[in-house]
Amino acid sequence: MLSAETDLRYLYFASAPSFNAVSHDLLELQRLAEEVEAKDGYTSEHCRRIQSLAMATGQILGLSSKRLYTLSIGAYLHDLGKVKVPLEILQKPVALSSEEWDIIKHHPTFGERLLEGSGYEKAATIVAQHHERLDGSGYPLGLQGNEILTESYIVAVADTFDAMTTNRPYRKALSPNIAFAELKRFAGKHYPQIIVDAFIIAIREFDF
Ligand SMILES: [Fe+2]
Ligand SMILES: [Fe+2]
Repeated sequence: MLSAETDLRYLYFASAPSFNAVSHDLLELQRLAEEVEAKDGYTSEHCRRIQSLAMATGQILGLSSKRLYTLSIGAYLHDLGKVKVPLEILQKPVALSSEEWDIIKHHPTFGERLLEGSGYEKAATIVAQHHERLDGSGYPLGLQGNEILTESYIVAVADTFDAMTTNRPYRKALSPNIAFAELKRFAGKHYPQIIVDAFIIAIREFDF
């Protein structure tokens, strides 16, 4: 019989030595990711929300438990690379210059590098691709179609939805229905239709 001290949606089993090795590094990375989202104007709940939304979507899509686990890490750490973006750029209240925007556009690659050699190579790729878009209009590489992992599309949709429905320093939160309409508008352009559909089902089914 198992019981948990906090609410949980997923349970992951690992052997004790691998859990200890993994959890220490992972906790450190997670702490860093939360810190960076706070500097970027989000509450500490943002990482956790993207993780839950992504996992629920992955579950609707029938991803294996191994892929769901990796997805949970990639989702939580998606913006980790923003630690390498100078604060004055991250928090600039006025429009960014094209040079500053170029630096921001490197945050997926910075995040990927921070995860290199950590044992989370697949999660690193999810992080590296979370701003790539189906039609090639994303960054940093302009990848398209199935050059982009399903997991990265899932994180992209969850992150976009959460950004739209959260109060940001420069604008008020949109209602979930407006955010759904926006995602649907970009289905088939920025994100595969199947990912947007699964996301909307997940959010309704799991009652976020
Ligand atoms: Fe990002
Ligand atoms: Fe984010």
